[in-house]
This record gives sequence, structure tokens and C-alpha cells, in this order.
Amino acid sequence: MKILVLGGPNLNLLGDREPEVYGKDTLKDIEDYIRKALAGLSFQSEWRQSNSEADLIDWVQAAHSENFDAIIINPAGLTHTSVSLLDAIKSFKGEKIEVHLSNTYSREEFRKTKITSAGSRGVIEGFGKDSYLLAFKFLLEKV
Ligand code: DQA
Repeated sequence: MKILVLGGPNLNLLGDREPEVYGKDTLKDIEDYIRKALAGLSFQSEWRQSNSEADLIDWVQAAHSENFDAIIINPAGLTHTSVSLLDAIKSFKGEKIEVHLSNTYSREEFRKTKITSAGSRGVIEGFGKDSYLLAFKFLLEKV
């Protein structure tokens, strides 16, 4: 299985940005944690992050022709605003899981509106870096 992991705006600042909310790991630390935790399982993954909505949409659109079977996406702030990213996610026919590090339901009211989430099979949130691990495990064990 070939899995594309996409991260939205400001996730490049993980480790430094609000560590009490998002933890002390950088995105690269999270990628390494996942690779270690799943060592021995057969899969390929590619991790990309952008602060640009357009990049994320282009990557989702290209995922099929790049032979990805599944997308794990943390749209970050775009979760709450982007109809265009939702439409792109809907157009990808493989498996899709949305993840969030924090439990957005325990935070500000505006984070409870989730525009992109309807495009994925499900949402895993609130488990820090293990939100990503749970998404990988679902894909590798159940799909
Ligand atoms: C986030 C939650 C979003 O509300 C926020 O804008 C982020 C990160 C998370 O992983 O918890 O940037 O997606």
C-alpha cells in the first residue's frame, strides 16, 4: 500500500508552535515515530506539508496518477474553511482519513465546524501523534 500523508498550514511549525496543544514533536519527528512503530510492515509512505491551499489541492488531485492507494490528511486550519479542499478530497477514489493532533471539540467554537471532514471515511483526532498511527494502522490492518 502506498500512502500519501498531507499536512496543511502551520504544521511546519510543529514542535515550536503551541506545544501544550500540539506536543513537542516536529512533523519529521512524527514521521520517524510512525516509521519506527510500523517497522516490518509492508507499505510506502510519502509525507508532504504546505502552507498553500493550492499545493494541497494539487497533491490530492495528482494522488491517483501517482499511484497512491490512500491519503491521510491533516488539513490544519483549512479544515474549518476550505470547500475547495473538500471537493478535491471527494474526487480521490482511494481511502481517505482525516487526522488532527488536538481534540478540536474541546477547543474554540469555530474549530467545531469541519468543512473538509465530510470528504474522508473518518476522522481521528485528539491523540497527538498517535492520531497518525491509528490512521496508518486502520489502513494497514483493515483495508
Ligand atoms: C489541527 C487542528 C486545527 O484546528 C488547527 O488549525 C491546526 C492543527 C490539529 O492537528 O490539531 O492547525 O489540525
